[in-house]
Amino acid sequence: MTTTLITGGTVVSATGRAVADVLVDGETIRAVLEPGSTLLGTDVAASVDRVIDAAGKYVIPGGIDAHTHMQLPFGGTEASDTFETGTRAAAWGGTTSIIDFAVQTYGQRVEDGLAAWHEKAAGNCAIDYGFHQIVGDVNEDSLAAMRRLPDEGVSSFKLFMAYPGVFYSDDAQILKAMQVSRDTGMLTMMHAENGPAIDVLAQQLVDQGKTDPYYHGIARAWEMEEEATHRAIMLAKLTGAPLYVVHVSAKQAVEQLAWARDKGQNVYGETCPQYLYLSLEEQLGAESEQWGHFEGAKWVCSTPLRSREERHQDAMWQALRTNDLQMVSTDHCPFCMKDQKELGLGDFRKIPNGIGSIEHRMDLMYQGVVTGEITLERWVELTSTTPARMFGLAGRKGAIQPGADADIVVYDPNGHTSIGLEKTHHMNMDYSAWEGYEIDGHVDTVLSRGKVIVDGDEYLGAKGDGRFLKRGLSSYLV
Ligand code: URP
Ligand code: ZN
Ligand code: ZN
Ligand code: ZN
Repeated sequence: MTTTLITGGTVVSATGRAVADVLVDGETIRAVLEPGSTLLGTDVAASVDRVIDAAGKYVIPGGIDAHTHMQLPFGGTEASDTFETGTRAAAWGGTTSIIDFAVQTYGQRVEDGLAAWHEKAAGNCAIDYGFHQIVGDVNEDSLAAMRRLPDEGVSSFKLFMAYPGVFYSDDAQILKAMQVSRDTGMLTMMHAENGPAIDVLAQQLVDQGKTDPYYHGIARAWEMEEEATHRAIMLAKLTGAPLYVVHVSAKQAVEQLAWARDKGQNVYGETCPQYLYLSLEEQLGAESEQWGHFEGAKWVCSTPLRSREERHQDAMWQALRTNDLQMVSTDHCPFCMKDQKELGLGDFRKIPNGIGSIEHRMDLMYQGVVTGEITLERWVELTSTTPARMFGLAGRKGAIQPGADADIVVYDPNGHTSIGLEKTHHMNMDYSAWEGYEIDGHVDTVLSRGKVIVDGDEYLGAKGDGRFLKRGLSSYLV
């Protein structure tokens, strides 16, 4: 068992910060000590195997990205990051746990969908991983199977009000699934967009010859997100299910969440970096020599990028401050332009939906600290502490405290990170949705359960380091 002392850094939690030494014993955190402490009469620094000097740096709990899609079959292709490449990229960016979405497709048994996901991930991950369950076919068999998911350490499931013919559930199916959520304490996660209406709008746009990527965002109007969010809230209220709305991007959807929360309903929401930083106008303006107007396909995701003129981005930052939104995940769902996004040349409906950001979430959110949108403590809370509490990992992940897994990031506020093309990131993508972003801050050292896996420019981890996380029920439920 290796012992490590991380000395002199500013240890940041969701509730405060202090200069302290962190003692790691094997895979867990043993103690948070005053700098230069002695333990049982001996100088701690002199008695450990390894000392990491963190003076002038932040020492934070490793990031938890609770919304990823490694190897997701989608839109006639498959998300380009495997569990191996995607979790390694996550580690480079200071994320030490992911919760990915196991998929039950239409006609498939839930158990088989989950087993297939275990097969994809087992032995391949660089960091610890858990699963939510996508239920793409709510029927009597799957409802029964869902009741057994908590025993498997899968304490949340996702339903889709979008994508008719793929993952879509109608209101009757949602109601039944939410009754399972109420009975079991599993969190209902919702993709809240009115899919059937969106599909009509999309068809009409294509009929008018409006096929460029930008029209993806026009078809998926904010009204469709507001309406679905409200409907999900009301179905959750009726059934008593706890509700977590994923990838919130419209300010009107946030208003719905705030309204429900103010009434005391158990409703939560996340947003993603793309909805904080990127906009529909920039997507409209995107053009390159290689791709022409199809350049905009790089930012096709659902929910879509929103109008900056309508100030959706400002509303997302505000909601992160007021706690109307509780977390930031990436919805990491990468596709290459070549052979993948390209499938939608001439018809935006055929562009596989998704953006890759897993490597940049901690950095991008730290920019919110730099620009004064959020505090240092809120940064840690949004990216690590709340995800752990929300998804049944409290005590093990999301905080630097005795007994917790030693998932720790040493973050240098005086460092710098340039995000460029595929050459400067580690995700399996042939472009970056974040090309040109300059970050004031740098992930210096990453420990995953006590093992240093990133040390400056060196990757020291290995495929298979990561273990499956059997999760408990959410700490947000009573
Ligand atoms: O565009 C997205 N979000 N792709 C991933 C699937 C989903 O809906 O989360
Ligand atoms: Zn979704
Ligand atoms: Zn997603
Ligand atoms: Zn550095």
